Amino acid sequence: MSDIAEIKIGGKVYEFPVITGSEGEKAIDISKLRDLTGHITLDFGYKNTGSTKSAITFLDGEKGILKYRGYSIEELAEKSTFLEVAYLLIYGDLPSQNEVSEFQSQISRHTLIHEDMKKFLDGYPSKSHPMAQLSSLVCSLSTFYPESLNANSSPETMDLTMIKLLAKFPTIVSFIYKKSLGHPLIYPKNKFDYVSNFLNMIFGQRTEEIEIDPVVVSAMNTLLILHADHEQNCSASTVRMVGSSDCNLYASVSAGIDALWGPLHGGANQAVIEMLERIKEDGGDTEKWINKAKDKNDPFRMMGFGHRVYKNFDPRAKIIKKACDDILEKLGIDDPVLEIAKKLEEAALSDPYFVERKLYPNVDFYSGIIYRALGFPTDMFTVLFALGRLPGWIAQWKEMHENKEPIGRPRQIYVGHTNREFVSIENRK
Ligand code: CMC
Repeated sequence: MSDIAEIKIGGKVYEFPVITGSEGEKAIDISKLRDLTGHITLDFGYKNTGSTKSAITFLDGEKGILKYRGYSIEELAEKSTFLEVAYLLIYGDLPSQNEVSEFQSQISRHTLIHEDMKKFLDGYPSKSHPMAQLSSLVCSLSTFYPESLNANSSPETMDLTMIKLLAKFPTIVSFIYKKSLGHPLIYPKNKFDYVSNFLNMIFGQRTEEIEIDPVVVSAMNTLLILHADHEQNCSASTVRMVGSSDCNLYASVSAGIDALWGPLHGGANQAVIEMLERIKEDGGDTEKWINKAKDKNDPFRMMGFGHRVYKNFDPRAKIIKKACDDILEKLGIDDPVLEIAKKLEEAALSDPYFVERKLYPNVDFYSGIIYRALGFPTDMFTVLFALGRLPGWIAQWKEMHENKEPIGRPRQIYVGHTNREFVSIENRK
């Protein structure tokens, strides 16, 4: 028999069903709360509110568990490629060899972007932030592919829209990057797999072919897999919310990119490196910066520490820390910022302020160091997070549509003025 939750308001008891997820998570289904009681719930930041039922990603913040479609992140990061994981998230199962080859070949057929899109790139100021460009270019895809505008079109059309987005995203990212350098654009090449093609478009030159280091391909696959989905975070919720109005996939993902940009979400990877640089330039006194983070009168936060859901450790941070050590060793890089990062981590992990609040390094604490070692400039880091998160956003948008979820429309408790007397403009003070 399923559990019942009772809520007592004004002496009257109301019953609500308790539902249980496949991993034993419990929720009180309050969908009839307002109808029955006239009350709503209030939950700033949705810390206790489930917005949907989802079969994509499971995470247990207390135990530090993260699984995509039932597969542990540790196993996926070690044994699969980013493209396999993208397929898994979007279609629900790991692909067979034939399925992944067909997926790759479909993507390869759509990697070019309309030549007119380059005119938008020409219009942006040369030093403008790549996340702003990425968001507007992804939204602009809907102007070139009008069949995408109907979010309820046939499954074949929707599938093609998803493939186009996966295919064109790395090209857009590389064009933004090359444009920022003033270098000629490098076009996609079908002979490469998804990740190698991306790296070739980023680091390749028109003048000569480059060797793509398998160590770099492997590190990039790991990083993208670790970022590929994270259930109902700020950007995924944004994608679902925007998509719930039947807004097309490109525009919904563009909104997700904006949500990701903030330093409390995906922008943290850029903020971490900027913070480590600042500490280094300030003489490397980590104790001083830990004290700043603890000082409630100081707005400074230790970037790359803490997580809304993980309260013991972030399993992605464990994998990424090891990947970081490996890649720096293999590439023979000695980054002084890594020393500061290690000192900070050690000091914070033994400091009661961080221990009591369960603040541990998150995925972004180490990802920036790897991106730097691979040769990416700091303001591209969040764009790389977006590239990794893309399959997750697509999967979340697709699931929301397939479940025919209603438009997202939270309520509020109004705390403003009640009735005010209107004063005509000439009599106002
Ligand atoms: N440095 C110092 N104090 C912190 C930090 C931090 N990074 N994070 C949380 N706290 C303190 C906070 O001041 C509060 O203290 P008190 O209880 O005394 O008021 C307590 O810890 C709880 O913090 P919160 O802001 O209520 O926690 P939250 O769950 O709302 O925020 C967070 C989670 C990730 C926004 C926050 O920890 C943070 O701002 N971290 C730094 C930014 C960052 O690294 N973000 C990347 C997250 S992982 C990538 C992703 O998935 O987006």
